[in-house]
Amino acid sequence: MRMTIVIRYVALFFTLLGTWFIVQTYFDWSLKVVTLRSWTGATKKPSSKQPPRYKCGNQKGCPQDYFAFKIISGAANVVGPSICLDDVILMSSVKNNVGRGLNIALVNGTNGQLLKTEIFDMFSGDINQLETFLNEIKHGTIVLTASYDDAATKMNDKVRAQFMELGSSHVSSLGFRDNWIFLGAKGLKGKSPFEEHIKNDVKTNKYDGWPELVEMEGCAPRKMD
Ligand SMILES: *[C@@H]1O[C@H](CO)[C@@H](O)[C@H](O)[C@H]1NC(C)=O
Repeated sequence: MRMTIVIRYVALFFTLLGTWFIVQTYFDWSLKVVTLRSWTGATKKPSSKQPPRYKCGNQKGCPQDYFAFKIISGAANVVGPSICLDDVILMSSVKNNVGRGLNIALVNGTNGQLLKTEIFDMFSGDINQLETFLNEIKHGTIVLTASYDDAATKMNDKVRAQFMELGSSHVSSLGFRDNWIFLGAKGLKGKSPFEEHIKNDVKTNKYDGWPELVEMEGCAPRKMD
């Protein structure tokens, strides 16, 4: 009968249509992904979309004749501080050259070369060693300082005055287990803008006996004369 033939063709048509539809969806997907990628250029330059990386991992770059720096104080008595200048980590736990008290790095302010790093135990160490160390700093030296755990127990007026001469404003009020980071220089006229200080206060402390760590990044001018 004619009707049967028509039904047969219609059935065949729908089967083919269904198959085509499935195959189409399946293959079109991978095709679309490929096309989209080449349109957006993602296959050509995957790095072009990443944000630029600045020295010391900072948020911003520095002009010429400036050193990029980042200083992070210790966190409680658990995580050590770190000091970076011009993309070089001068002091850190990984470098195994940090410790309880004051962590100090001396850098040539003209060329950024590391001169010395030293740890001074401010809880039970000999304060005279720090006094001698600060006394011997030559004109034109950049001084980078980060506290860890406690930086004040052994602090005295003489050493406070030495730090003030390097440009510190906060050292005079530095107390037991405060966090303090500072970048100054020998021969600086006036106060350094690069200083952070957070008081140890049971009411606001992040950790039981210690405040939150402090962190500072920026651009310190190179010594030009
Ligand atoms: C820094 O290095 C320069 C040479 O590049 C030198 O003349 C100067 O004395 C050094 N200054 C310090 C403080 O080390």
